[in-house]
Amino acid sequence: MRQKPHGRLHKEYTMNGIVYTYIRIFFAMLICAAMLLCLCGCALNNDNDGDMIEVPKPTPHPTPTFVPTVEPSPTPEQTAAATPEVTGAIMPGETDNPLSEEKLVALTFDDGPYGEVTNRILDVVEQYAEYGVHVTFFALGSQAEKFPNTVKRAADLGCEVANHTYSHKNLTKISEDERTSQVEDTADIIESITGTRSKLVRPPYGAKNDDVRATGKYPLILWSIDTLDWKTRDTDSTVAEALKAVDGDIVLMHDVRDDTAAAAEQIIPALVEQGYKLVTVSEMFEAKGIALENGKAYRKAR
Ligand code: NI
Repeated sequence: MRQKPHGRLHKEYTMNGIVYTYIRIFFAMLICAAMLLCLCGCALNNDNDGDMIEVPKPTPHPTPTFVPTVEPSPTPEQTAAATPEVTGAIMPGETDNPLSEEKLVALTFDDGPYGEVTNRILDVVEQYAEYGVHVTFFALGSQAEKFPNTVKRAADLGCEVANHTYSHKNLTKISEDERTSQVEDTADIIESITGTRSKLVRPPYGAKNDDVRATGKYPLILWSIDTLDWKTRDTDSTVAEALKAVDGDIVLMHDVRDDTAAAAEQIIPALVEQGYKLVTVSEMFEAKGIALENGKAYRKAR
């Protein structure tokens, strides 16, 4: 009999035990579920926190769809197709003159022509014709009359024969009429020989004033490098001075003496070797995109 209650008690106790076990399991599952939810929630809400558990970053949905559409399109074909258009648009500068990208120097020879001296210089010009070598002669009308063949040869070689007045008068010290005849008579003589009217005037001694500018129907071309060849009469010195030229310089020499012709025989090859294009004064200003204005004085093209 004692067993019964004991047995019932035991039974009740056992029943309670099972119930408690289920309750424990239930709560344990609840806690597990809660922890799982918490973990997932934290991971999702803390993308930026470095101290969180490393969970593979949930890739936002738009990315996979955008990446393939945006990235492949500007790949090789498109950039290759776009490149020529862009460079083509940038490339053409202010001028399509092939000399515009070159280093240019204008060698000029005054007071001639003198047959032998001038022809020695023209021999070098002809020898370097394949490099497009041209020089400028500021000729005296009186000398051009004496050596028309030399003037013609210079023009035929692509050199510029320009105007240094008829008899080397200082234009600031003569009347307007005489100034006009000094310049225009010479222009007529050069034109009669070469078929081309000279477009430039170099006033003797570089002398100019407002009168010279005002009556001038031509640009006045001076120089940026004076070799002083007429003064030193020394070939080495003339060469050394001329080789100081840089892009845009106008070099002054005189085709009246052999020492200058000898200098030209060294200067022209040396400048060609240095990569300079030796051009006429008109060619240089044109290549540099500088429009020469009548009555204005120019010392260099830069
Ligand atoms: Ni002169």
